[in-house]
Amino acid sequence: MRRMHIQNVEPGMMLGKTLYGDNYEVLLNTGVVLTEDYINRLKNRGFIKVYIDDEETADVVIKDPISDKIRIMATKDILKTYELTQSAIVNIEADTAESIIKSINTPKIKNAFQESQPFKQMCKDINSFVDELMNENILSGLNSIRSFDNYTFEHSVDTAVLSIIIAKKLFFNKDKLRQIAIGEFLHDIGKIFIDEKIINKPGKLTAEEYEQVKQHPAYGYELLKDIDNIGEASRHIPYQHHERQDGKGYPRGLRGNNKIDDSSSVGYTEQDKFIMIAEIAAIADVYDACISDRPYRKGLSPDFVYELIKSGSGTQFNRELVDCFLGVMPKYPVGSEVRIKNGIYKDFTGVVISLNIQQLSKPKVKLLCDAKKNKIKPFEIDLSSDSTMDMECIC
Ligand SMILES: [Fe+2]
Ligand SMILES: [Fe+2]
Repeated sequence: MRRMHIQNVEPGMMLGKTLYGDNYEVLLNTGVVLTEDYINRLKNRGFIKVYIDDEETADVVIKDPISDKIRIMATKDILKTYELTQSAIVNIEADTAESIIKSINTPKIKNAFQESQPFKQMCKDINSFVDELMNENILSGLNSIRSFDNYTFEHSVDTAVLSIIIAKKLFFNKDKLRQIAIGEFLHDIGKIFIDEKIINKPGKLTAEEYEQVKQHPAYGYELLKDIDNIGEASRHIPYQHHERQDGKGYPRGLRGNNKIDDSSSVGYTEQDKFIMIAEIAAIADVYDACISDRPYRKGLSPDFVYELIKSGSGTQFNRELVDCFLGVMPKYPVGSEVRIKNGIYKDFTGVVISLNIQQLSKPKVKLLCDAKKNKIKPFEIDLSSDSTMDMECIC
C-alpha cells in the first residue's frame, strides 16, 4: 500500500483504506477499484491524498495506531461536544475577551458543556482510546485521510495519538494518559467562541483578528477549569498548548526549561513555567497542523515538518521533548512516496516500505521508477546501510 496524491491516481487503481464522509458514513471501501467518476468525486470532495493498494507495494503495511472504529468513535464524541456547546452560545452577545470569559462562566454555557451527553460519553470512551494505544511505542506516521469539514476534530484525535505515544515513552501512568487524551480532544474548543470567519480564513489574519485567535486557549481553559473529575492536565493542555520555551508564546508568555523534569507531576512547580504535558501538546499540535491538508493548501511534507520541529528545539519546543518526539515519529512515514536526492540513484522515486527501529529516519525504500520516470524492476535499498544517501517525501 502507498499514499498517493489524488492527481496521480488513475482509473483501475485499488483503494487501500476506506474513505469516510463528513458524517463518517463509508464513501468508498477498501478494495474498491477506482473509476474516473469516483476519482473526480473524491477531488470534488476535497480529498488530496488516498491510499492505494498495488502489486508493487503489496508488502507495505501501513499500521494505523488506532482502529477505524475507535478513531470514528473519538472523532464523533468531539464533534458532538463541540456542536452542543456551540448551540448554547448562539444568542450570546459578547465581543471583548472579558465579556466572552464572563459568558463562558454562566450556567447556560457551563451546563451545556459539562452536562452534555457527548462530553460524558467522551470521558467514558477515552478508556478504550488509551487502551488501544498501550501497545504502540512508535508511529509509522500520522496516517489519517481527512474530510475537510471535520478538520478540527480529526486534528484533535491525531494530536492526542502523538502526545500519548510521547508521554508513554516518559512512563506516564494510565490516568495521566487519559487526562492527556481529554485535554487534546478539547485543546481547541475555545475557538467556538471566536467568529468562524476568522477561524476559517484562508489568508493572513489582520493583527486584530490574530489577537482574537490568541484568546482561544484561555476560553478553552475557562470552559474546563471547574470540572472535578477530568484532572489538571485536561484543562492545562487547552490553556498552554501555544506557549513556547522562550516565553514568546500565548496567551500568558509562560517559559520552559528545556528539560524533562516533571514526568510525575502535572502541577506547577514555578508560577511562570508551563507544564510538561502541555509542552508535549505544543509539539503534537504543530506537527499535525502542518502536515494536514486544508482546503486552501496542501499539507507540508512530513520530512519538512519533522525538520521544522527539530529547528524549533530549544526556542519554541522543549529540547529534551523534541528528542523524545524524534524517537517515536519517523522522518519519512511508511507508505510515503519519496525521491532520492543524491548518489547513484539520484532522482529515482519509490515508496518507504518499513522502518529501522534503531534508526527511524533511515528506512527501507523500494525504488519503482528511474530518474527519467520510467518504471523499473522494483528493488529495495536500506538507508541505514548508506549514511550519505538523502531523500525527500513527494506526497
Ligand atoms: Fe490551538
Ligand atoms: Fe490545534
